[in-house]
Amino acid sequence: MSYLCPLCHQGLTQQHRTWNCPQGHQFDIAKEGYVNLLPVQHKRSREPGDNSEMILARRAFLEKGYYQPLREAVTQRLRQQLSQVAGDVLDIGCGEGYYTATLAEAAAEQGRLCYGLDVSKVAIRLAAKRYSQAVFCVASSQRLPYSDSAFAAVTRIYAPCHAAELYRVVQEQGVVITVTPGPRHLAQFKALIYPQVKLHDSDSQTLDGFTPEEASTLNYPMALSGQDAVALLQMTPFAWRAKPEVWQHLAGQTTFDCEADFNVRVWRKAL
Ligand SMILES: C[S@@+](CC[C@H](N)C(=O)[O-])C[C@H]1O[C@@H](n2cnc3c(N)ncnc32)[C@H](O)[C@@H]1O
Ligand SMILES: [Zn+2]
Repeated sequence: MSYLCPLCHQGLTQQHRTWNCPQGHQFDIAKEGYVNLLPVQHKRSREPGDNSEMILARRAFLEKGYYQPLREAVTQRLRQQLSQVAGDVLDIGCGEGYYTATLAEAAAEQGRLCYGLDVSKVAIRLAAKRYSQAVFCVASSQRLPYSDSAFAAVTRIYAPCHAAELYRVVQEQGVVITVTPGPRHLAQFKALIYPQVKLHDSDSQTLDGFTPEEASTLNYPMALSGQDAVALLQMTPFAWRAKPEVWQHLAGQTTFDCEADFNVRVWRKAL
């Protein structure tokens, strides 16, 4: 599998520490091993995607293991799928690589590669530095730098992506595995932030060009330390809404009981 040039969409070939296209566009491989395929003219902001603060908070939180049940559930789904379909794996919006790491191990068990993509350079730099088992690039999921039918399986864990792009890069018989928040996900945070808590509506999901094949929920309680609760809040969109009192309240807790609630779905490419 090789990358596509984000500027002229022709195939890139690797020469030493750069990826080059026939038109002469060049993309350097960073010392951590990733390639940045997000040209300045495609950047919508100076620091697209999650900012450094959110990414560092995500890494601090994830390495405490609270989301390990989710990581195992997604990796297990991928393992099952890879036993049926040949081809590589892509983790879209992979962040700092917590899930990509075990997805890549599952892929390697079957002689496949796992690619990780995120629009945030800070996230990809951290991911590539820690997890050498996957191949990382900075790029936008709105235009994926991979050829048509490049992947047997794509995971999309809390990340945005155009359905048409997913359809293009997934091979026939291939799958997309998605994780989205379930109705009760972090309900206890919301109760601190909003006067009235609206539960997520999780039943109305569709993915254009794909048929839902399996849907399951994963719900469990987490007893967070005050510090971990602060890190979790920081990595979510609720961070923008939380007043200073909320941050202080959480930081002062010995334990903060909070629910994790995820929807894990497998979608098969429609014929
Ligand atoms: C909520 S995070 C989830 C990260 C990771 N999957 C996880 O659960 O730890 C969403 C990720 O999507 C990335 N992202 C946002 N917009 C993107 C885009 N257009 N293309 C690629 N990644 C994007 C963010 O930088 C962020 O790392
Ligand atoms: Zn080019």
